[in-house]
Amino acid sequence: MELRTIEWKDDSVVMIDQTKLPNELVFVKYTDYNDVADAIRTLVVRGAPAIGVSGAFGMALAALQSSSETKENLLSDLEKAKKILNDTRPTAVNLSWGLKTIMQIAKQGKTVSEIKDGVIAKAKHMAEEDINVNKKMGKNGEKLFHNNDTIMTHCNAGALATVAYGTALGVIRATKESGKKVKVIATETRPIQQGSRLTAFELKHDGIDVSLIPDTAVGYTMANGLVNGVIVGADRILQTGHVFNKIGTYQVATMAKQHNIPFYVAAPLSTFDLESNPKDITIEQRKASEVTGIGDKKTAPDGIDVINPAFDMTPPELISGIITENGVAKPPYEESIKKLFKAN
Ligand code: MRU
Repeated sequence: MELRTIEWKDDSVVMIDQTKLPNELVFVKYTDYNDVADAIRTLVVRGAPAIGVSGAFGMALAALQSSSETKENLLSDLEKAKKILNDTRPTAVNLSWGLKTIMQIAKQGKTVSEIKDGVIAKAKHMAEEDINVNKKMGKNGEKLFHNNDTIMTHCNAGALATVAYGTALGVIRATKESGKKVKVIATETRPIQQGSRLTAFELKHDGIDVSLIPDTAVGYTMANGLVNGVIVGADRILQTGHVFNKIGTYQVATMAKQHNIPFYVAAPLSTFDLESNPKDITIEQRKASEVTGIGDKKTAPDGIDVINPAFDMTPPELISGIITENGVAKPPYEESIKKLFKAN
Protein backbone atom coordinates (compact mmCIF):
# COMPACT_ATOMS: atom_id res chain seq x y z
CA MET A 1 0.00 0.00 0.00
CA GLU A 2 1.36 3.44 -0.98
CA LEU A 3 1.58 5.80 1.99
CA ARG A 4 -0.60 8.86 1.41
CA THR A 5 0.09 11.41 4.12
CA ILE A 6 -2.76 13.88 3.49
CA GLU A 7 -6.00 13.55 1.56
CA TRP A 8 -9.23 15.50 0.99
CA LYS A 9 -12.20 13.17 1.62
CA ASP A 10 -15.90 14.10 1.90
CA ASP A 11 -15.30 17.77 2.78
CA SER A 12 -12.66 16.91 5.38
CA VAL A 13 -8.89 16.51 5.62
CA VAL A 14 -7.54 13.06 6.48
CA MET A 15 -3.93 12.73 7.64
CA ILE A 16 -1.60 10.11 9.02
CA ASP A 17 -0.93 11.00 12.67
CA GLN A 18 2.88 11.03 12.52
CA THR A 19 3.22 11.37 16.30
CA LYS A 20 1.96 7.78 16.60
CA LEU A 21 4.51 6.27 14.17
CA PRO A 22 6.19 3.82 14.04
CA ASN A 23 4.06 2.01 16.63
CA GLU A 24 0.63 2.66 15.10
CA LEU A 25 -0.52 3.75 11.64
CA VAL A 26 -3.47 5.94 12.63
CA PHE A 27 -5.46 8.36 10.44
CA VAL A 28 -7.06 11.53 11.84
CA LYS A 29 -9.89 13.49 10.22
CA TYR A 30 -10.41 17.24 10.52
CA THR A 31 -13.34 19.47 9.55
CA ASP A 32 -12.14 22.62 11.38
CA TYR A 33 -9.14 24.61 10.12
CA ASN A 34 -8.14 25.39 13.73
CA ASP A 35 -7.56 21.65 14.23
CA VAL A 36 -5.39 21.57 11.10
CA ALA A 37 -3.37 24.46 12.59
CA ASP A 38 -2.98 22.43 15.79
CA ALA A 39 -1.93 19.38 13.78
CA ILE A 40 0.85 21.40 12.10
CA ARG A 41 1.94 22.92 15.43
CA THR A 42 2.11 19.56 17.22
CA LEU A 43 3.78 17.68 14.30
CA VAL A 44 0.84 15.37 13.57
CA VAL A 45 1.81 16.48 10.07
CA ARG A 46 5.30 17.81 9.35
CA GLY A 47 7.81 18.21 6.52
CA ALA A 48 7.82 21.33 4.31
CA PRO A 49 5.68 20.16 1.33
CA ALA A 50 3.23 18.31 3.62
CA ILE A 51 2.59 21.40 5.73
CA GLY A 52 2.23 23.49 2.54
CA VAL A 53 -0.59 21.23 1.31
CA SER A 54 -2.06 20.97 4.84
CA GLY A 55 -2.22 24.77 4.97
CA ALA A 56 -4.06 24.79 1.62
CA PHE A 57 -6.55 22.17 2.87
CA GLY A 58 -6.93 24.20 6.08
CA MET A 59 -8.00 27.14 3.90
CA ALA A 60 -10.47 24.88 2.05
CA LEU A 61 -12.01 23.95 5.43
CA ALA A 62 -12.11 27.63 6.41
CA ALA A 63 -14.02 28.37 3.19
CA LEU A 64 -16.54 25.62 3.99
CA GLN A 65 -16.83 26.74 7.63
CA SER A 66 -17.57 30.36 6.72
CA SER A 67 -21.23 31.37 6.88
CA SER A 68 -20.52 34.74 5.22
CA GLU A 69 -22.95 35.69 2.53
CA THR A 70 -20.81 38.30 0.79
CA LYS A 71 -17.55 37.91 -1.08
CA GLU A 72 -15.88 40.58 1.12
CA ASN A 73 -16.80 38.81 4.38
CA LEU A 74 -15.70 35.43 3.05
CA LEU A 75 -12.32 36.86 2.00
CA SER A 76 -11.92 38.38 5.46
CA ASP A 77 -12.70 34.96 7.08
CA LEU A 78 -10.08 33.41 4.80
CA GLU A 79 -7.49 36.08 5.74
CA LYS A 80 -8.10 35.26 9.41
CA ALA A 81 -7.61 31.52 8.78
CA LYS A 82 -4.49 32.26 6.73
CA LYS A 83 -2.92 34.11 9.67
CA ILE A 84 -3.73 31.34 12.16
CA LEU A 85 -2.33 28.67 9.85
CA ASN A 86 0.74 30.72 8.89
CA ASP A 87 1.69 31.37 12.53
CA THR A 88 2.00 27.64 13.32
CA ARG A 89 5.60 27.09 12.13
CA PRO A 90 7.97 29.79 10.83
CA THR A 91 10.82 28.16 8.90
CA ALA A 92 9.38 26.11 6.00
CA VAL A 93 8.43 28.53 3.21
CA ASN A 94 6.05 25.99 1.62
CA LEU A 95 3.45 26.85 4.26
CA SER A 96 3.24 30.56 3.38
CA TRP A 97 3.51 29.64 -0.34
CA GLY A 98 0.49 27.28 -0.04
CA LEU A 99 -1.56 29.86 1.85
CA LYS A 100 -0.70 32.70 -0.55
CA THR A 101 -1.55 30.56 -3.58
CA ILE A 102 -4.98 29.75 -2.14
CA MET A 103 -5.65 33.40 -1.24
CA GLN A 104 -4.84 34.47 -4.82
CA ILE A 105 -7.37 31.97 -6.17
CA ALA A 106 -9.97 33.10 -3.63
CA LYS A 107 -9.61 36.73 -4.73
CA GLN A 108 -10.34 35.76 -8.34
CA GLY A 109 -13.78 34.31 -7.44
CA LYS A 110 -16.77 36.53 -8.25
CA THR A 111 -19.33 35.01 -5.88
CA VAL A 112 -19.26 33.22 -2.52
CA SER A 113 -19.87 29.83 -4.12
CA GLU A 114 -17.31 30.45 -6.86
CA ILE A 115 -14.69 31.28 -4.19
CA LYS A 116 -15.50 28.19 -2.11
CA ASP A 117 -15.41 25.87 -5.13
CA GLY A 118 -12.21 27.51 -6.45
CA VAL A 119 -10.37 27.19 -3.13
CA ILE A 120 -11.29 23.52 -2.65
CA ALA A 121 -10.38 22.65 -6.26
CA LYS A 122 -7.02 24.45 -6.00
CA ALA A 123 -6.11 22.75 -2.70
CA LYS A 124 -6.92 19.32 -4.20
CA HIS A 125 -4.89 20.19 -7.30
CA MET A 126 -1.91 21.25 -5.13
CA ALA A 127 -1.97 17.84 -3.42
CA GLU A 128 -1.93 15.99 -6.77
CA GLU A 129 0.77 18.32 -8.11
CA ASP A 130 2.95 17.57 -5.09
CA ILE A 131 3.10 13.90 -6.10
CA ASN A 132 3.80 14.74 -9.79
CA VAL A 133 6.57 17.14 -8.84
CA ASN A 134 8.18 14.56 -6.53
CA LYS A 135 8.18 11.99 -9.33
CA LYS A 136 9.83 14.46 -11.73
CA MET A 137 12.41 15.29 -9.08
CA GLY A 138 13.04 11.56 -8.63
CA LYS A 139 13.73 11.14 -12.35
CA ASN A 140 16.10 14.15 -12.38
CA GLY A 141 17.91 13.00 -9.24
CA GLU A 142 18.35 9.27 -9.80
CA LYS A 143 20.94 9.92 -12.52
CA LEU A 144 23.29 11.22 -9.81
CA PHE A 145 23.42 7.85 -8.05
CA HIS A 146 25.01 4.56 -9.10
CA ASN A 147 24.36 0.85 -8.79
CA ASN A 148 25.26 -0.41 -5.28
CA ASP A 149 25.48 3.08 -3.76
CA THR A 150 24.80 3.54 -0.07
CA ILE A 151 23.03 6.85 0.39
CA MET A 152 22.81 8.69 3.70
CA THR A 153 19.77 10.80 4.53
CA HIS A 154 18.92 12.98 7.51
CA CYS A 155 15.48 13.64 9.07
CA ASN A 156 12.52 12.56 6.94
CA ALA A 157 12.09 14.00 3.46
CA GLY A 158 9.96 11.12 2.31
CA ALA A 159 6.36 10.24 1.53
CA LEU A 160 5.55 11.29 5.09
CA ALA A 161 6.98 14.79 4.55
CA THR A 162 4.95 15.28 1.34
CA VAL A 163 1.60 14.04 0.04
CA ALA A 164 3.29 10.85 -1.22
CA TYR A 165 6.59 9.55 -2.73
CA GLY A 166 8.86 12.17 -1.10
CA THR A 167 11.63 14.55 -2.18
CA ALA A 168 14.97 13.12 -0.99
CA LEU A 169 13.44 9.68 -0.45
CA GLY A 170 11.61 10.12 -3.78
CA VAL A 171 15.02 10.32 -5.47
CA ILE A 172 16.05 7.15 -3.63
CA ARG A 173 12.79 5.43 -4.71
CA ALA A 174 13.40 6.52 -8.32
CA THR A 175 17.00 5.23 -8.18
CA LYS A 176 15.69 1.83 -7.11
CA GLU A 177 12.87 1.93 -9.70
CA SER A 178 15.48 2.57 -12.42
CA GLY A 179 16.96 -0.86 -11.67
CA LYS A 180 19.92 0.19 -9.52
CA LYS A 181 20.54 -1.46 -6.15
CA VAL A 182 20.70 1.05 -3.30
CA LYS A 183 21.10 0.94 0.42
CA VAL A 184 20.14 3.76 2.75
CA ILE A 185 21.69 4.94 6.00
CA ALA A 186 19.19 6.98 8.02
CA THR A 187 20.28 9.18 10.89
CA GLU A 188 17.94 8.89 13.86
CA THR A 189 17.56 12.75 13.96
CA ARG A 190 17.41 13.70 17.61
CA PRO A 191 15.50 15.14 19.36
CA ILE A 192 12.19 14.10 17.72
CA GLN A 193 13.53 11.10 15.83
CA GLN A 194 12.10 11.79 12.35
CA GLY A 195 14.84 9.51 11.02
CA SER A 196 14.18 6.49 13.20
CA ARG A 197 10.41 6.91 13.62
CA LEU A 198 9.55 8.00 10.06
CA THR A 199 12.34 7.42 7.49
CA ALA A 200 13.17 3.95 8.83
CA PHE A 201 9.44 3.17 9.00
CA GLU A 202 8.56 4.24 5.46
CA LEU A 203 11.63 2.69 3.78
CA LYS A 204 11.07 -0.59 5.60
CA HIS A 205 7.37 -0.41 4.64
CA ASP A 206 8.44 -0.16 0.97
CA GLY A 207 11.11 -2.87 1.19
CA ILE A 208 14.09 -0.52 0.74
CA ASP A 209 17.28 -1.65 2.50
CA VAL A 210 17.82 0.79 5.39
CA SER A 211 20.19 0.90 8.37
CA LEU A 212 19.70 3.27 11.24
CA ILE A 213 22.58 5.13 12.89
CA PRO A 214 22.77 7.48 15.83
CA ASP A 215 23.42 11.06 14.66
CA THR A 216 26.83 10.83 16.27
CA ALA A 217 27.89 8.00 13.87
CA VAL A 218 27.83 10.20 10.72
CA GLY A 219 31.60 10.77 10.88
CA TYR A 220 32.32 7.10 11.63
CA THR A 221 30.30 5.76 8.70
CA MET A 222 31.80 8.28 6.28
CA ALA A 223 35.38 7.79 7.49
CA ASN A 224 34.96 4.02 7.11
CA GLY A 225 33.84 4.23 3.48
CA LEU A 226 30.26 3.18 4.18
CA VAL A 227 28.62 6.16 2.41
CA ASN A 228 28.74 7.06 -1.34
CA GLY A 229 26.42 10.06 -1.32
CA VAL A 230 24.06 12.10 0.86
CA ILE A 231 20.61 13.41 0.01
CA VAL A 232 18.38 15.56 2.21
CA GLY A 233 15.27 17.70 1.77
CA ALA A 234 14.87 21.41 2.55
CA ASP A 235 12.50 23.76 4.34
CA ARG A 236 13.69 26.88 2.54
CA ILE A 237 16.33 27.55 -0.12
CA LEU A 238 17.56 31.05 -0.84
CA GLN A 239 18.63 32.52 -4.21
CA THR A 240 22.24 32.18 -3.02
CA GLY A 241 21.87 28.41 -2.49
CA HIS A 242 21.77 28.59 1.33
CA VAL A 243 19.65 25.66 2.50
CA PHE A 244 17.57 25.62 5.69
CA ASN A 245 16.76 22.10 6.81
CA LYS A 246 16.44 19.93 9.92
CA ILE A 247 18.94 20.66 12.65
CA GLY A 248 22.06 18.60 12.06
CA THR A 249 22.01 18.92 8.27
CA TYR A 250 24.91 21.40 8.44
CA GLN A 251 27.00 18.90 10.42
CA VAL A 252 26.25 16.10 7.93
CA ALA A 253 27.18 18.38 4.99
CA THR A 254 30.41 19.47 6.66
CA MET A 255 31.38 15.89 7.33
CA ALA A 256 30.53 14.92 3.73
CA LYS A 257 32.84 17.69 2.45
CA GLN A 258 35.62 16.44 4.73
CA HIS A 259 35.31 12.96 3.16
CA ASN A 260 34.73 14.07 -0.47
CA ILE A 261 31.24 12.60 -0.50
CA PRO A 262 28.68 14.39 -2.72
CA PHE A 263 25.96 16.14 -0.72
CA TYR A 264 22.65 16.74 -2.57
CA VAL A 265 19.46 18.56 -1.64
CA ALA A 266 16.12 17.64 -3.25
CA ALA A 267 13.28 20.18 -3.07
CA PRO A 268 10.44 21.48 -5.23
CA LEU A 269 10.45 25.07 -6.53
CA SER A 270 7.83 25.87 -3.86
CA THR A 271 10.63 25.53 -1.26
CA PHE A 272 12.63 28.41 -2.77
CA ASP A 273 12.50 31.88 -1.24
CA LEU A 274 14.14 34.19 -3.77
CA GLU A 275 13.56 37.34 -1.73
CA SER A 276 15.16 36.77 1.68
CA ASN A 277 18.71 36.87 3.00
CA PRO A 278 20.10 34.31 5.47
CA LYS A 279 19.73 36.69 8.42
CA ASP A 280 16.00 37.27 7.66
CA ILE A 281 15.03 33.66 8.30
CA THR A 282 13.38 32.70 11.58
CA ILE A 283 14.68 29.43 12.96
CA GLU A 284 11.98 27.70 14.97
CA GLN A 285 13.05 27.12 18.58
CA ARG A 286 11.36 24.17 20.25
CA LYS A 287 10.63 23.21 23.83
CA ALA A 288 13.39 22.09 26.24
CA SER A 289 11.63 18.86 27.18
CA GLU A 290 12.46 17.42 23.72
CA VAL A 291 16.13 17.51 24.76
CA THR A 292 15.89 16.82 28.50
CA GLY A 293 14.19 13.47 27.99
CA ILE A 294 13.66 10.56 25.65
CA GLY A 295 9.99 9.64 25.53
CA ASP A 296 8.76 9.80 29.11
CA LYS A 297 12.22 9.17 30.57
CA LYS A 298 14.13 12.15 31.96
CA THR A 299 17.76 12.23 30.77
CA ALA A 300 18.94 15.61 32.09
CA PRO A 301 18.92 17.38 35.48
CA ASP A 302 15.94 19.58 36.40
CA GLY A 303 16.32 23.26 35.53
CA ILE A 304 19.10 22.78 32.96
CA ASP A 305 19.30 25.48 30.25
CA VAL A 306 18.62 24.08 26.77
CA ILE A 307 19.22 25.34 23.22
CA ASN A 308 16.85 23.49 20.87
CA PRO A 309 16.71 24.95 17.34
CA ALA A 310 14.63 22.86 14.87
CA PHE A 311 16.62 23.88 11.77
CA ASP A 312 20.05 25.02 10.65
CA MET A 313 21.53 26.58 7.54
CA THR A 314 23.91 24.79 5.18
CA PRO A 315 26.01 27.17 3.06
CA PRO A 316 26.17 26.66 -0.74
CA GLU A 317 29.86 25.70 -0.77
CA LEU A 318 28.98 22.40 0.95
CA ILE A 319 26.27 21.46 -1.57
CA SER A 320 27.06 19.46 -4.73
CA GLY A 321 23.68 20.02 -6.38
CA ILE A 322 20.05 20.98 -5.73
CA ILE A 323 17.56 18.63 -7.39
CA THR A 324 14.19 20.11 -8.44
CA GLU A 325 11.35 19.21 -10.80
CA ASN A 326 12.92 21.56 -13.38
CA GLY A 327 16.40 20.02 -13.26
CA VAL A 328 19.49 20.00 -11.06
CA ALA A 329 21.09 23.32 -10.05
CA LYS A 330 24.88 23.19 -9.70
CA PRO A 331 27.24 25.86 -8.32
CA PRO A 332 27.36 28.82 -8.80
CA TYR A 333 23.81 28.77 -7.46
CA GLU A 334 22.87 32.44 -8.02
CA GLU A 335 22.92 31.68 -11.76
CA SER A 336 21.69 28.09 -11.86
CA ILE A 337 18.71 28.77 -9.55
CA LYS A 338 17.62 31.71 -11.75
CA LYS A 339 17.71 29.36 -14.76
CA LEU A 340 15.49 26.81 -13.01
CA PHE A 341 12.83 29.46 -12.52
CA LYS A 342 13.14 30.73 -16.10
CA ALA A 343 12.39 27.17 -17.29
CA ASN A 344 9.00 27.45 -15.55
O1 MRU B 1 10.46 19.50 11.87
P1 MRU B 1 10.10 18.77 10.62
O2 MRU B 1 9.94 17.30 10.82
O3 MRU B 1 8.93 19.40 9.91
O4 MRU B 1 11.36 18.97 9.67
C1 MRU B 1 11.34 18.40 8.40
C2 MRU B 1 12.59 18.62 7.64
O5 MRU B 1 13.50 19.28 8.06
C3 MRU B 1 12.61 18.05 6.25
O6 MRU B 1 13.91 17.63 5.91
C4 MRU B 1 12.16 19.14 5.26
O7 MRU B 1 10.93 19.67 5.66
C5 MRU B 1 12.05 18.62 3.88
S1 MRU B 1 10.69 17.53 3.71
C6 MRU B 1 10.55 17.03 2.09
